[in-house]
Amino acid sequence: MTQACKLAAGNWKMNGLRADLAEARALAAAFPAPGCGIVLCPPATLLCAMAEAVSGSAIGLGGQDCHTQAAGAHTGDISAAMLADAGAHHVILGHSERRADHAESSALVAAKAHAAHAAGWVSIICVGETEAERDAGETLDIVLGQLAESLPEGAGAANTVIAYEPVWAIGTGRTPTLAQIAEVHDALRAKLPDRAISLLYGGSVKPGNAAEIFAIANVDGALVGGASLKAADFGAIIAALEAA
Ligand code: 13P
Repeated sequence: MTQACKLAAGNWKMNGLRADLAEARALAAAFPAPGCGIVLCPPATLLCAMAEAVSGSAIGLGGQDCHTQAAGAHTGDISAAMLADAGAHHVILGHSERRADHAESSALVAAKAHAAHAAGWVSIICVGETEAERDAGETLDIVLGQLAESLPEGAGAANTVIAYEPVWAIGTGRTPTLAQIAEVHDALRAKLPDRAISLLYGGSVKPGNAAEIFAIANVDGALVGGASLKAADFGAIIAALEAA
């Protein structure tokens, strides 16, 4: 069986101006030949400039969303082809902030992933329970349901990464116990159409907790928000993944 690839992905969310490209440059300089994949997902406004800033380095770039269509009358939206034109080959889809703020359903996430895959790009599909769902004992039902409904036909290790992000752990400094992360990742791995799909954990990953999270059997890396904004912090997380 092919092994899942190790990946550290940074989600800058709605953060970052041109001055912050210095962080991307510093990261590229610190990891000329990394022992894992590294992807930065800045806001769309920074993609072209960041592509230039890290040109020739081992850093890959990703978008934070894409439309189901390649082009057309969709004000404010961005297509997978446009992301690629700007230098991105990954795209985060179905992040809980988009599911909540933009009422994105798993069916829409699957359609977007299908569009991204058809264009030849890699989707990072996010799943995760709310605190109320965890308290109600529904965690596995929720995340496995989201997985089944968000994965398009043809999803495999070449075009798909899954990120488990408990909604209540995002930006809060709270994380599940290692046993809780292991339980969800084991369940997700068992349901993947291709067991070599990389499984990332996301939600308050920091330099101080990265190593213990990466030591969990079915954790292949992380999708990092706040701590990916600074090269020093994200670099420490990447180093922990390289060492895992
Ligand atoms: P934080 O790392 O800031 O908790 O964000 C996680 C996340 O949502 C990454 O997509």
